[in-house]
Amino acid sequence: MELTFYGQNCLGLQIGEFNILVDPFITGNEKAKDIDIADLKADYILVTHAHQDHVLDVEAIAKNTGATIVSNAEIASYYGEKDLRTHPMNHGGSWNFEFGKVKYVPAWHSSTFPDGASGGLPGGFVIETSEKNIYIAGDTALSNDMKLIPLFTKLDLAVLPIGDNFTMGVDEAIVASDFVECDRILGCHYDTFELIEIDHDSAKQKFAQKQKELLLLNIGDKMTV
Ligand code: NI
Ligand code: MN
Repeated sequence: MELTFYGQNCLGLQIGEFNILVDPFITGNEKAKDIDIADLKADYILVTHAHQDHVLDVEAIAKNTGATIVSNAEIASYYGEKDLRTHPMNHGGSWNFEFGKVKYVPAWHSSTFPDGASGGLPGGFVIETSEKNIYIAGDTALSNDMKLIPLFTKLDLAVLPIGDNFTMGVDEAIVASDFVECDRILGCHYDTFELIEIDHDSAKQKFAQKQKELLLLNIGDKMTV
């Protein structure tokens, strides 16, 4: 599985022949100005919740690519009304897609669309594939529910928010990585705005002190999961 970081919580996943895009927020992100959304491939767009910094480019990219939008029932129906292809889910449920099995898991956050429409309750995704397994937490506080994930899935990578203020910060994310039993972490949801700026060296050191690896990618950078 190859992962590309596009800033904030936006990720591209290449799983076999399939392209999955998560939480596209690019045209509104000054730091991602070198990324052209017209170049992005997507068979599926996974949406954790309805906030602007996760959905801004969903519609444009779905129209460009014909991708299926996978999210909670409210977000799916919001895009369904715009004649986009959708797959509705809700907390605790899994579905076997052609690229792997996706479970929509709870997140502690909020989820109203920028236009005031209900975005249901926020979530994250656990994706199991024939290659690797990955947890994308979405925007969330540290939560006891994370302990349920390793009962079902042995993770190879956890993508956790570390920017604090709107989500967990670094110290909570370290405990979250214990809860999900995964010591390889990709940090997200930091540095996009002043309120979520972090000190990279200090964050990496804190994880290293617990024998964990914190990866911080530049926008546009790729890694192999
Ligand atoms: Ni949010
Ligand atoms: Mn956010």
